[in-house]
Amino acid sequence: MERTSARITASVYTSHVPAIGAAIDQGKTHEPYWQPLFAGYESSKQWLRDNRPDVIFLVYNDHATAFSLDLIPTFAIGTAARYQPADEGWGPRPVPAVQGHPELAAHIAHSVIQDDFDLTIVNRMDVDHGLTVPLSLMCGQPPKEAFAWPCPVIPFAVNVVQYPVPSGRRCFNLGRAIRKAVESYDEPLNVQIWGTGGMSHQLQGPRAGLINREWDNRFLDRLISEPEALAQVPHIDYVREAGSEGIELVMWLIARGAMSDNAPVVKHRFYHVPASNTAVGHLILENT
Ligand code: DHB
Ligand code: FE
Repeated sequence: MERTSARITASVYTSHVPAIGAAIDQGKTHEPYWQPLFAGYESSKQWLRDNRPDVIFLVYNDHATAFSLDLIPTFAIGTAARYQPADEGWGPRPVPAVQGHPELAAHIAHSVIQDDFDLTIVNRMDVDHGLTVPLSLMCGQPPKEAFAWPCPVIPFAVNVVQYPVPSGRRCFNLGRAIRKAVESYDEPLNVQIWGTGGMSHQLQGPRAGLINREWDNRFLDRLISEPEALAQVPHIDYVREAGSEGIELVMWLIARGAMSDNAPVVKHRFYHVPASNTAVGHLILENT
């Protein structure tokens, strides 16, 4: 029978280090420092061309760009038609504006809020490296003559910058509510969900530069095979083991919770240390 509703076909997980965006924008991807990192994304770009979604639901964190200490939404869904790349101090990145999907975003907001998750609805915001670097890594730089990302994107911002941050358990359960919302949208859209940020890194204080390969790789193992148990890890473990910014990894649990309960197919797994101050992790999981 022909499918009439939307569904989540795959999830993508990747770090968002801003220096990666700068390396792309400044043509440095073939330099010895960067080449091994970008090599890890070559097959991912081909995978995305072969498995082009209708919409990407992109879970990321804002870094005091769209929000500030004036206003700290724990979970914020972008319902706008368009988002401009932000100026993060060096001018906006030379990447396309992001086209939204207001209809699907509004439907997800309705469903998820009725499912007891409090979302902030955002009708206007700029997007920073948290969202544009994952798009660049997966899509490459769009050609000048067709200067656009391959499909609409729904930005979903999670507060992992200012305490209190949401627990992994809440993020995983929110992912499940997002899955239910997508599956009740009455149009046969192919939706991917991306979980971004991480892996281990700490940007300040005496432990600046902290990277924990063993913990990161165990996180990847468990994200694949026992995500619900992984979701029980308390935030203090992330901070102690993966550094203060390692807490960005709870966002990966939203994407994982949105996947089917069946074991996913691992299409790609990559880990590289370091990019700037950060351990870069990357996974592509397909629903069966
Ligand atoms: C770095 C990593 C981040 O996640 C971020 O938001 C800013 C900087 C870094 O490694 O330099
Ligand atoms: Fe970050």
